[in-house]
Amino acid sequence: MEIGTIEPVGHDVLRPDNVPADRVFDFDIYRDVPEGSTLHHSWRALMDQVAYPVMWTPHNGGHWVVLRGDISDVVMSDSERFSNHTVLVPKETAGEAYRLIPLSLDPPAHQPFRKLLNDNLGPKPLKPVESKIVELTVSLIEGFRPNGQCDFMHEFAEKLPVQIFMQIVDLPIEDLPKLKHLADQFTRPDGSLTYPEVAHLFRDYLMPVIAERRGGSGEDMISRMVNGQVGGRELTDVEAQNICMQVLVGGLDTVVNLLSFTLSWLAQDHDLRRALVADPALIDDALMEFLRRFPVVSSSREVRKDIEFEGVHLKSGDMVMAPTIVVTLDEDNNADPLDFRLGRKARKHSTFGRGSHTCPGAHLARMEMKIVLREWLARIPEFRLADGAELRFTNGIVGSVKPFMLEWDV
Ligand code: HEM
Repeated sequence: MEIGTIEPVGHDVLRPDNVPADRVFDFDIYRDVPEGSTLHHSWRALMDQVAYPVMWTPHNGGHWVVLRGDISDVVMSDSERFSNHTVLVPKETAGEAYRLIPLSLDPPAHQPFRKLLNDNLGPKPLKPVESKIVELTVSLIEGFRPNGQCDFMHEFAEKLPVQIFMQIVDLPIEDLPKLKHLADQFTRPDGSLTYPEVAHLFRDYLMPVIAERRGGSGEDMISRMVNGQVGGRELTDVEAQNICMQVLVGGLDTVVNLLSFTLSWLAQDHDLRRALVADPALIDDALMEFLRRFPVVSSSREVRKDIEFEGVHLKSGDMVMAPTIVVTLDEDNNADPLDFRLGRKARKHSTFGRGSHTCPGAHLARMEMKIVLREWLARIPEFRLADGAELRFTNGIVGSVKPFMLEWDV
């Protein structure tokens, strides 16, 4: 579609000289998925419609979008050509406000901060958290099981990972709604706050927490990070705020959405659900397939220097969106990618990213997902979407399923 046919609104821009007219398409990452489609079907349809695997949209400040798996992986991981300095669109607003650590740092500056995170999110430091996850999962499920129904997002998905997370960082559970609302504004803004306001409110919240924990002997993740060393020195206040913000944003939204995709799928695929109930040993393989089938993140990179790339001239400062979603949906990576299949021989996906910024929270996320699958299926083996419930989906930097009701017989 030519730029002239797209009604300019908000952050839309005119087509720059380096963008050929036939590379322009009408794509807005923050637009709801059309009724009757799903997040992943709508991305697949987009991949089928476009003439080239690298397209350009005038929305959200104007940016390139990659629609083929191998190219997405290159953009995400080639820090020589594609910088992490800005990872969100629109660049001037969301991108500017989201200069968080370590995601907005390129190597070598990235490594010491990343080490701090790895030290806190690996299997060893998280071992004591496992029993807490089981405990909370069981108590949430048992809380609504006698009702024969639940609002999955609000009564379960939003509670479990975020409550666990609040324990890991040792923040009061009463602050959760405020923090969740702020985290959501980065990835799926509802217009209630501008990006600078979101960053400001986050910093206001974190400043006293960091000040209080500095120099202390707390074992929570924030204490360990703000008292850690980067390249032989302490973190500055701003660095400490930025790394804490990054962990909050990364850990509050993604697992919630992956859980929603997973349970809403199980509510509809009765054969799969019954197979997992009959043989819980299949849960490990099912988890790998859920992770493959339901990537949710669409991050971007900033072009460092003018380059020729996939038949187009990219200019220094151009933004390129490299959705993890297209990696899974590429037929070259997974045959019949929209099919959910146990026992797939080779699964290729970038659900947790690619390259040096690959998600440090992956172990925690997998652990939570596995416990939920096991405990839920053992307690509520038969369930379905509530009568008349039709799933709706939202695109965004982190794609999501809108709240839905599950029901079962009691
Ligand atoms: C299923 C759940 C999750 C998914 C799908 C996911 C996905 C991702 C992806 C795709 C990236 C790379 C982004 C990029 O390169 O632009 C990333 C980075 C990151 N994630 Fe996750 N994530 C999940 C859970 C978590 C959790 C639970 C935490 C924290 C406890 C976390 C913290 C982070 C951080 C701090 C980064 C930045 C790493 C860096 O820049 O080196 N994530 N995640």
